Amino acid sequence: MSEHKVYPVPESVAARAHVTQAEYEAMYRRSVDDPEGFWAEQADRFLDWFEKWDTTLDWSFEGDVHVEWFKGGKLNVAHNCIDRHLAEHAEKTALIWEGDEPDQDQHITFRELHEQVSRLGNVLKERGVSKGDRVCLYMPMIPEAVYAMLACARIGAVHSVVFGGFSPEALKDRIQDAEASVVITADEGVRGGRKVGLKANTDKAVDQCPSVHTVLTVRRTGGDIGWNDSRDVWYHEAVEAASADCPAEPMDAEDPLFILYTSGSTGKPKGVLHTTGGYLLYAAITTWYTFDLQPDDVYWCTADVGWITGHSYLVYGPLANATTSVVFEGVPSYPDASRFWEVVDKHQVSVFYTAPTAIRALMREGDEPVTKTDRSSLRILGTVGEPINPEAWEWYYHVVGKEQCPIVDTWWQTETGGHLITPLPGATELKPGSATRPFFGIVPALMDTDGHVVEGEGEGALVITRPWPGQMRTIYGNHQRFVETYFSAFKGCYFSGDGARRDGNGDYWITGRMDDVLNVSGHRMGTAEIESALVLHDAVAEAAVVGYPHDVKGQGIYAYVILVKDAEPSDALRKELVNLVRSEIGPIASPDAIQWAPGLPKTRSGKIMRRILRKIAANELDSLGDTSTLADPAVVDELINNRVTG
Ligand code: WTA
Repeated sequence: MSEHKVYPVPESVAARAHVTQAEYEAMYRRSVDDPEGFWAEQADRFLDWFEKWDTTLDWSFEGDVHVEWFKGGKLNVAHNCIDRHLAEHAEKTALIWEGDEPDQDQHITFRELHEQVSRLGNVLKERGVSKGDRVCLYMPMIPEAVYAMLACARIGAVHSVVFGGFSPEALKDRIQDAEASVVITADEGVRGGRKVGLKANTDKAVDQCPSVHTVLTVRRTGGDIGWNDSRDVWYHEAVEAASADCPAEPMDAEDPLFILYTSGSTGKPKGVLHTTGGYLLYAAITTWYTFDLQPDDVYWCTADVGWITGHSYLVYGPLANATTSVVFEGVPSYPDASRFWEVVDKHQVSVFYTAPTAIRALMREGDEPVTKTDRSSLRILGTVGEPINPEAWEWYYHVVGKEQCPIVDTWWQTETGGHLITPLPGATELKPGSATRPFFGIVPALMDTDGHVVEGEGEGALVITRPWPGQMRTIYGNHQRFVETYFSAFKGCYFSGDGARRDGNGDYWITGRMDDVLNVSGHRMGTAEIESALVLHDAVAEAAVVGYPHDVKGQGIYAYVILVKDAEPSDALRKELVNLVRSEIGPIASPDAIQWAPGLPKTRSGKIMRRILRKIAANELDSLGDTSTLADPAVVDELINNRVTG
């Protein structure tokens, strides 16, 4: 089994790396023995403060749960990502934009970034946005998306980026929850040669959002859009007219920086709130060590700004380190399966960070689209978002990286702000499929079902027992839900929702979610959200959604649908249901398989036995377990006999 394969740190990498294995061990020890001393030093080293903090850390993982880092310290995130680099790096490229079409690109220097962000900051202020106000971003992968995030940070507004693939309905929910006053969008997005009507979607959403008084629209394609004079403003006109002088607002370290909605096992997506000082420090330090950043790196994270990876590792982490960051508008398969590697060659990318689902999709296309490119600029490869299967890891390592590039398999979450478990290139022996060791200051533990700590080799629920600067502070507007979701399962610990195994060397292997959260192509979604969408249809009485193993997506979406008495199953109805999910959530949540079910396996007390539904969807029929306690055991056979393949 390749599980047992170990790739030692190449000497050439260790010789030049920020930390070797011995240095990692020593620094890790220090970070957990004296966390306050360690983090205070790093905060001085990685960030520029207008005023020093009073208290390094104040926390409790019990009771009402609170975490505060560097309280009283004053800083500004945009200042740290731009202004402080101007003295030495004004003409350095901050962003390389690579458009959907291979002949479109643009280099933006730190000086230009400073001007664009300042102008937009002033536009927002002129529209009445001030410190603490929420601004919603619904944007394609264009430089203006980065400007908008940084402009909010510059004036102390709180951004809420909503992934451009979400539907108007999903956008509306997020705008309403955050009570955003401004939405920044584009006329249309372009991905893989196809256009997405972002402004049209925004119009539909905003019609139901009384809090929104301004919609700023970037002209990306020039396509036809609707216009409402009382709230619509062209981005380019407003920015041109605004002053380029916009002082960075001094923010408290614990002032909110952004809200990002993410799915849980129940209810509507929750607004994960990150604050200023701790988040930026954690994004900066993890980017530095995990990718072993070098001054002349061209760093490319393929994530969309609509996800946490786009926040921490496309915008804030790289820019805080004055690193050149690539913003890619397109998709890996357009115009063809060589696109990633052609972009790597074109911009001489040295650090490349993507999701296992993209690797698996490209692996299917064979080696040739990769091997026909050069890729000699690559130094470090990374993956994020879901467990990477050893086969995909090996392919990434041997074919893409030509056995020259360490792969950092980074485990973390929207909630954690940055990497929690990850190899460091110069310090960690690599094992395909293992995220390996905790980052500095991170103290993981595995818990058994009785809530006892699993020592040494073993498996359990993955929790974190101590605070770290990048962790979320609350769920926006619902602190109680925050406490219940993350701190109630295991007393005094942050519960990640993931399970993990620790091997005899102390390396962690993430086994996946233990709750009803799905991970489809690295996109996180809750089964409950999809079920709520399905039952909106008049013909649907009940629905249960589970994930099942999918070769490319990691997980596929399998829906069991029970129709009301007089409704008849049909292909047309199946289509209507898929469309309903697309319009309620977005295309990423479309079910891969819908099974018309006569009933669901339930306990006598009425609880759906999801374990059985998962097994049937996965076609693991030998291991269904005991079904005799079900209210109606016969339903299981009916479900098995009518199983559909996704
Ligand atoms: C999963 C993405 C295995 C995990 C940064 C987690 C991973 C969820 C890995 C968070 C990894 C992320 N190995 N699983 N390297 N990285 N996950 O919030 O289940 O979109 O809980 O954050 O993705 O997804 P989220």
